[in-house]
Amino acid sequence: MKKIGFFDSGLGGLSVLRHAPTRINDAQFFYVADSAYAPYGEKPESLVLERSLQLADFFLKKEVDALVIACNTATAVAAEEVRSRLSIPVVAMEPAIKPGILHSQTQKIVVLATKATLKSERYKNLKDLHDWDGKIEECICHEWVTAVESGNLSFEESCKMVKKQLDKVKIKDADTYILGCTHFPFLEKEIKQILNKGIRIIDPSLAVIEQLMRILRIESDNNLSDVSNIEFYTSGSTSEVEKRTFQLLNWQIKAKPLD
Ligand code: DGL
Repeated sequence: MKKIGFFDSGLGGLSVLRHAPTRINDAQFFYVADSAYAPYGEKPESLVLERSLQLADFFLKKEVDALVIACNTATAVAAEEVRSRLSIPVVAMEPAIKPGILHSQTQKIVVLATKATLKSERYKNLKDLHDWDGKIEECICHEWVTAVESGNLSFEESCKMVKKQLDKVKIKDADTYILGCTHFPFLEKEIKQILNKGIRIIDPSLAVIEQLMRILRIESDNNLSDVSNIEFYTSGSTSEVEKRTFQLLNWQIKAKPLD
């Protein structure tokens, strides 16, 4: 039985994890919500790096066979360092620029992410990889992360918050929006409500699970979602993580404190 670890600054990584139990049979999953340190996007890089390495150590003790950094910000800051320290496969997130470029008819795309992701060397290199004549605009949406973490906003309030940010986008005919933060799929309804119909929203979370399966040579099982084989840990409040996981995914879980 494979053991697979996932971590994020908080609940965002659940948007990736949610695809795992329905596709991967016979595995033990571990998820860490590093909620005491969320949001990572507004923290100094040194802290995000330190947390990522500490969490990597935690997963090593759990003897995982693979680690998913289910966080674009931690990937941008710490993926290289984490990879260099672990001898297991490390699957990481990155804004889905390539599919965005492939799909855009207007040759204009928008990347929604945290500042730490967008200003990283890794993101710059990713953009440089594609010799593309089109335009890419970046939009920093930190408030969205906090809103997903807290769950305090009504649908109308979330729509207002999302609109405030999307109104700042200067390219008006972009037809492709990339979710470059794992918290944002939990605002997809609101984003769809605000953007014009026909605009494509790219959420790479399923592709990440598919990549994990390719690396571990796991065949898809199309299971019913069974969350009993997922262990949840958090550096924050366990009851809050339990409550929000139920609200976001309808999963009834028990979370343990991270030592
Ligand atoms: N979910 C994260 C990401 O994908 C982190 C957001 C944050 O903590 O600021 O970037």
